[in-house]
Amino acid sequence: MFALNRAKKAAAVVAATAAAAATALLSAPTAVAAPQPIVGGTTTTTTSYPFMMQITDASQNQFCGGTLVSATKVVTAAHCMVGETTSSVRVVGGRTYLNGTNGTVSRVSKIWINPDYTDATNGDDVAVLTLATSMSYTPASYVSSSQTSVYAAGTTARVLGWGTTSENGSSSNQLRTATVPIVSDSSCRSSYGSDFVATDMVCAGYTSGGVDTCQGDSGGPLLIGGVLAGITSWGEGCAEAGYPGVYTRLTTFSDLVTAQVNS
Ligand code: ARG
Repeated sequence: MFALNRAKKAAAVVAATAAAAATALLSAPTAVAAPQPIVGGTTTTTTSYPFMMQITDASQNQFCGGTLVSATKVVTAAHCMVGETTSSVRVVGGRTYLNGTNGTVSRVSKIWINPDYTDATNGDDVAVLTLATSMSYTPASYVSSSQTSVYAAGTTARVLGWGTTSENGSSSNQLRTATVPIVSDSSCRSSYGSDFVATDMVCAGYTSGGVDTCQGDSGGPLLIGGVLAGITSWGEGCAEAGYPGVYTRLTTFSDLVTAQVNS
């Protein structure tokens, strides 16, 4: 089995120390390449990506990402919500920095976890949160169930998050983004064997690695043509050659999401 990274609680601890780590890096020698966004990529803002939400604990410590799809609905990963309650989580919009205090903080009035979810490597990794306070940020549109052709191998996808910038590194205080190519199902099956469930998952990354989502990015968006098409779910390490990131294949769950959005 792979040492799959689904350590949500660990990601929250990492986030809490991110600011201190970032400060330390300013004075670090340049012998080692500086950690890059997500892993590989660039800094960005929630002004550029207004639908990008922090999922936090009650103290506003970020542990996952989410995507605003209507004024009161946020799509995230099921594995982010396991063990959470409506009183333990918050959704924060319009906050580019983990240590910011700006933006809109909402409580959650309902957590819907895909009832078929057991483990990220079994698929079904999708959840929808209903917000107690509506967000005034422009939501993302998401794929419909028929748009399965968006996942053609080689298509450029965009990922976003505050997760760690290297496999065992620290979270990024500022929101990061990167682009990664969609990987064919057969190639992803070669990497992950039966843990890759093609109906429920899609892979993205370079054969040589170097650019990927990582711990703390889970639940956040994979965008194709600016449309939400995947949810950061799991992977073997981060940015490793031969092991692309694995994302929830949202076309499979689009109708379930819509039922929640309309509920
Ligand atoms: N499961 C991780 C999280 O909870 C995301 C891991 C993504 N890993 C990867 N190699 N793309 O934040």
